[in-house]
Amino acid sequence: MNNQSLNTLSDRLLSIIRQKREHFYRIDRLKKRLDHDVMNIYSAVKVLKENGYDIRRDRDGNIAFFKAPDRLLETEIALGLKTSFVGKRIYAYQTVQSTNAIAARLAGSDTDGARIPEGALIVAESQTAGRGRFGRNWMSLPERGIYLSIILYPKLAPQDAPGLSIMTALSLADTLRPMVKTKVQIKWPNDCLIAGKKVAGILTELTGEIGHVHHVVVGVGINVNHTHRSFPTDIAEKATSVRIQNRKRVSRVELLQKFLRNFEKDYKHFTKSGLKQFRKRILKYSNLIGHEITLDFRGDVITGKALDIDNRGCLVMDIDGATHTFSAGEVTVVKK
Ligand code: BTN
Repeated sequence: MNNQSLNTLSDRLLSIIRQKREHFYRIDRLKKRLDHDVMNIYSAVKVLKENGYDIRRDRDGNIAFFKAPDRLLETEIALGLKTSFVGKRIYAYQTVQSTNAIAARLAGSDTDGARIPEGALIVAESQTAGRGRFGRNWMSLPERGIYLSIILYPKLAPQDAPGLSIMTALSLADTLRPMVKTKVQIKWPNDCLIAGKKVAGILTELTGEIGHVHHVVVGVGINVNHTHRSFPTDIAEKATSVRIQNRKRVSRVELLQKFLRNFEKDYKHFTKSGLKQFRKRILKYSNLIGHEITLDFRGDVITGKALDIDNRGCLVMDIDGATHTFSAGEVTVVKK
């Protein structure tokens, strides 16, 4: 049997035996149902076990499903995902350089009529060259975090694209808030904080021409099951994870599914009427508005008061009595 048929058989076997957890399915019946010989079925069990599934055989060779692994596998993400288009096409990898790079390649490689569908999800267990903002590296430890990219084709003016990052931060904040007891905030333009420390970052990359967006890749890195020791000393002070806040492990698959659902709901509103309707949530979650801040924009450091985030997703600042807006930069709160 070739690899593809073996994977198909594993998926079919899994969908049968996971219907009743810890129940031994008779091998002779499975043989009939799957129309495969016993050796093939046991090879499929081996594949599933290698993927981390807890599947057991009794003395008579019957097979039972006990537990699914918390791995970002296509089958696990798809099972019970309550969305209509986001995550309906999944590209799940063990290790990649960058999910954003893969997404950009996929979205750019379309031929008319056969483009990658909107909402396609690229996800990896680890990245060797995860990209952060301003050309920084995004630390992507294996099996601790979630590293994902979503391909979108919004009918959007390029200058409205920053709004998409803010919207994503809000979807994520709504996802994380019920999971932790401490305060969840967003930090303009695209960080998510728990208890004042960074738990997730968003990198939105846009491809298009003047006045026209061809596609957008929304990349999200979430620190989920990191411990204090997972972070290198230089970022341990500023970073946190859901597990650190919660004091227990979190299911990454469930967190991802909840986020995709929130993201889809928000994205539908966003493409209809922009950031306007997100005002209340922006004011609720933002850690900047009303505070003295510094804005570092490619080396120029500007000090002032954060007044607002406008309907284009730009930061509005009062600088020496005059109002200025900024579409990008790195913000630090100097006075609370
Ligand atoms: C930042 O805070 O600087 C943004 C970090 C974004 C990291 C994510 S991880 C998944 C996706 N793929 C990448 O290469 N980067 C984004």
